[in-house]
Amino acid sequence: IGTVVYENSTTASKAVAQEIADLIRVKQAQKQPCILGLATGSSPKSLYAELVRLHKEEGLSFKNVVSFNLDEYYPMEPDSVNSYVRFMKEHLFNHVDILPENHHVPDGTLSKAEIANYCDQYENKIEALGGLDLQILGIGGNGHIGFNESGSLQNSKTRLVALDHITRVAASGDFSGLENTPRTAITLGVKKIMEAKRVILLAWGERKSNIIKASTESEVTSSVPASFLQEHDNATFVLDKEAASKLT
Ligand code: F6R
Repeated sequence: IGTVVYENSTTASKAVAQEIADLIRVKQAQKQPCILGLATGSSPKSLYAELVRLHKEEGLSFKNVVSFNLDEYYPMEPDSVNSYVRFMKEHLFNHVDILPENHHVPDGTLSKAEIANYCDQYENKIEALGGLDLQILGIGGNGHIGFNESGSLQNSKTRLVALDHITRVAASGDFSGLENTPRTAITLGVKKIMEAKRVILLAWGERKSNIIKASTESEVTSSVPASFLQEHDNATFVLDKEAASKLT
């Protein structure tokens, strides 16, 4: 696992956006699709802002990009204020030339009976395209990646999960109270994340410093799913000074 520390999240995000832009252009030159795994939440907002800028000001095209988001609350309507579909449209998809049929966010409107099959298909689509070229991750205060909470196995598949209490508390502000916060979500499993050819985890601020230390410097354990990334051969934690402040 590599860790790279930047002065602040803006400079860090610009560097990650540049890596993504370079990858998209290499794939374009090869006439290949570029398969991106994307995250929501506060951490990638500055990354998406920079990708939008690269599109608008530097001609970066997303026509060959196919994206798969990590997760979505369940149940969730796509046009609801807190849906990850809406988040992605607001922060990225509406502002670049990615084709609508090429961006995927797990469907929060399915019936319970449909979910298992849907999750298999989600993985099959990624597989059919040759796997994820690059996965962007944030990290939860408990070490979750996607919504793979503590206890998720390294070979876990894409599935419906129960959200940890701490995750629901963190989200409860957006849902105006814990009682309105979803209890479940659909998440890409750890296995597909680990199969990505490149993984970049973003973490900003002092509040992430303890879990960044635990994920990178302690043992690999399912109680901290981000620690599985120690076993990935091309994973980098991109941090600001505060998130890196407890590293030895
Ligand atoms: C979001 C996701 C989550 C977040 C994590 C950190 O798609 O998969 O794992 O990345 O909860 O969230 P923020 O960035 O808001 O601190």
